Amino acid sequence: MSVLAAAPTLGQAPLWYLARSTGMVSFVLVTVALCLGIASTQRALASPSWPRFATQGLHRNVSLLGLAFLGVHIVTTILDGYVNISWWAVVVPGISHYRGTWVALGTIAFDVIVAVIATSLVRLRMNATYWRRLHLTVYAAWPLAWLHFLKTGTDAAHGKFGLWIAIAAAVLVGVAVAARTSLRDDPAPVRSVVR
Ligand code: HEM
Repeated sequence: MSVLAAAPTLGQAPLWYLARSTGMVSFVLVTVALCLGIASTQRALASPSWPRFATQGLHRNVSLLGLAFLGVHIVTTILDGYVNISWWAVVVPGISHYRGTWVALGTIAFDVIVAVIATSLVRLRMNATYWRRLHLTVYAAWPLAWLHFLKTGTDAAHGKFGLWIAIAAAVLVGVAVAARTSLRDDPAPVRSVVR
């Protein structure tokens, strides 16, 4: 029987649909946040009508929105009950019996994103070097989030449009990271005016 034929309707499984849709939206928002973070390091992208603090503010707010969607995704996935995932699996990687490895990658990415956002909210009171070192771990966390999305998400794992989102996101991040490493702009940490 095909996956589509077996799928419950929205009315039968609202939490499952909410978990899937918020998972996809949070992945897109985290991807956009990563690219905006890279854009915020580039003075060449700023202009009088769009100063760099505007990019940084957008970067911050898209990150927070992504975290909010991530929270709904995690809570609805666990409450749904279709798959048995414990609350501990939210923060401890490798203890989920359901798609262990791929859920573990999502857990690690989540832990890193929470740490990066938490430290960013208090970064003006932190040592700038430590803040930046931790911030750069998002470059390692994003591929884990990508793999998690690709391998656990119904919409990506079964070749639906989620797969195209995953491919588009990989191309976008690949181009942004290549530009970041090739353009010599602002190697030193910038103490942003955006809180
Ligand atoms: C409240 C949340 C956040 C705040 C306030 C924040 C703030 C900043 C600031 C001020 C910069 C510029 C650093 C510089 O000029 O050297 C930056 C860069 C960056 N941020 Fe964030 N950030 C947040 C969350 C995130 C998240 C969740 C991600 C990942 C999805 C992320 C990814 C990046 C990246 C990739 C860079 C560029 C790093 C580089 O190559 O130098 N940020 N962020």
